[in-house]
Amino acid sequence: MRESSKNDWWKRAVFYEIYMRSFKDANGDGVGDIPGIIEKLEYLHSLGVDALWLTPINPSTDYDFGYDVTDYTGVNPLFGNISDFQRLLAEAHALDIKVILDFVLNHTSVEHPWFKESRSSRDNLKRDWYIWRDGRSPGKPPNRWISRVTGKAWEYDQTTGQYYYHAFFKQQPDLNWRNPEVKRAMFDAAKYWLDLGVDGFRLDLVNHLVEDELLRDNPFNNPLRSFRNIHEILPYEWQKHIYDRDLEETHEILKELRSLTDSFSSRVLVGEAATFDASAAASYYGSGSDELHLVFNFNFFTCPFEPRSFLHTALEWQDALPQDAWPCLAFSNHDQPRHIGRFAGSFSIYGEREDAIPKAKIAAAFLLTLRGSPFLYYGEEIGMRNSFLWPWEVKDPAGKIFWPLFQGRDMSRTPMQWSPGKNAGFSIARPWLRPDPSYGYCNVLYQEQDPYSLLSFYRKLLRLRKEREALTLGEIEFIPAATSDYLAYTRKFNNELILIILNFKPILNSLSQLSETPQLQPPGSWRVLLGTSRREGESLDLKNAWMRPYEVLIAEPIPISEPDRAD
Ligand code: NOJ
Repeated sequence: MRESSKNDWWKRAVFYEIYMRSFKDANGDGVGDIPGIIEKLEYLHSLGVDALWLTPINPSTDYDFGYDVTDYTGVNPLFGNISDFQRLLAEAHALDIKVILDFVLNHTSVEHPWFKESRSSRDNLKRDWYIWRDGRSPGKPPNRWISRVTGKAWEYDQTTGQYYYHAFFKQQPDLNWRNPEVKRAMFDAAKYWLDLGVDGFRLDLVNHLVEDELLRDNPFNNPLRSFRNIHEILPYEWQKHIYDRDLEETHEILKELRSLTDSFSSRVLVGEAATFDASAAASYYGSGSDELHLVFNFNFFTCPFEPRSFLHTALEWQDALPQDAWPCLAFSNHDQPRHIGRFAGSFSIYGEREDAIPKAKIAAAFLLTLRGSPFLYYGEEIGMRNSFLWPWEVKDPAGKIFWPLFQGRDMSRTPMQWSPGKNAGFSIARPWLRPDPSYGYCNVLYQEQDPYSLLSFYRKLLRLRKEREALTLGEIEFIPAATSDYLAYTRKFNNELILIILNFKPILNSLSQLSETPQLQPPGSWRVLLGTSRREGESLDLKNAWMRPYEVLIAEPIPISEPDRAD
């Protein structure tokens, strides 16, 4: 492979997010672990993914399940030890699978030794490693910033009579990235893992690293503004976050982190810029080559199952990116409800809806044929559902606080459904979170035996992506004629042209109008590469063809010289 394409492996890669606690438990304590992932590497290889993103593996107080770190260079004993991790890295690399780690940069756990020192006295050497301030007046926090989850962003600490700032839970105090010692300590931790051979990081809450030094209050949003998604009704969205996130200094830090990362070859930085503002998220690409390689776009997590919304979200993201930037694509992750629930009814207790799997196939085909690097979320390939949990079953602190208004994020974190056997084949012990009852029919074992299952479809799609460069590096062009019921677009690379048509509706749709669009001239026949309603290799003439309900069709032109094989 050319050196440049070796370095750019992440542009062709399909990433797979593993929620550590829930993927596979090998040591029988009910919690997923590193040896469990090693056991399932063959499965991941046969699925065809190129890189794994592991949610935090560091020792943690596990209040927010890994996102409250107590040691940045250690391994949480629940998951194994450093030799387990090195074995995972070696075995994954042997299968050509990269491994990236979650790096929780913005905050530590309250139990991190740094914070314990910092809170011990006002003149402690680590005092300035966190953000401590006096209240505005007795009993009043320093300003009106609010946290992303609980409302309060300042916690009063009796010992020293000051408040500390937390953008998330109070158990996760924000680090003061303006302090050079903090930066050095965190960069050293990054270097430690890069030296060990990890292929990069997913950076948690990356737009929150730096806050306004003067602690100015954020202005409020206009309450009568038009809402794009349901999240905007939350109190956190009432403020315009111009002083507590997305500050210029954050970009400077990330540029330095990029230089550090680039001093190792072939590594990647993927950022979680927690915002629905696509251009703010896109700003973390920097010039396109000097900040993060990939940044998630939160709008994919909320767009409904409508061709126009899919198209709008994709185009908006494409347009927001700087010239050399490469899109990053994901429909689900461990903080969001699984997209199958958004598209086809929330919970499996309502019974399996007929349209669930066909819709999941459309979503998969879209995600895996768009231009960019797709991120799959474990279990998405078998159509795992959002789980309904009773208050006494809830583990996520956000769910504990807000149930039933918000049942928390556990719904999309239930154990991977490997088989219809005990505990969904996830563990011999009682799992830390109850498996979703759908595992009786929705599991890897059954779907591996069914050529028409969602899992088989994902496998075929991933294989096709590997075979056809147009589907990874190719230019994308949407065909305007087709946006009311279905989407159509082409991917093009050198002489390779691929046409993708996705019918979002449960009705037949004629393609005769589409066949006349200039992009698809001269008219000719197409050969099916992959689809849900036609055989591979079958030829079709768009002029007389109809898309079947919820059909996915991926096809290539048949060269004129080649005689049509009429079916
Ligand atoms: C984003 C992570 O994805 C989420 O799970 C976590 O709770 C917060 N950041 C805080 O670290």
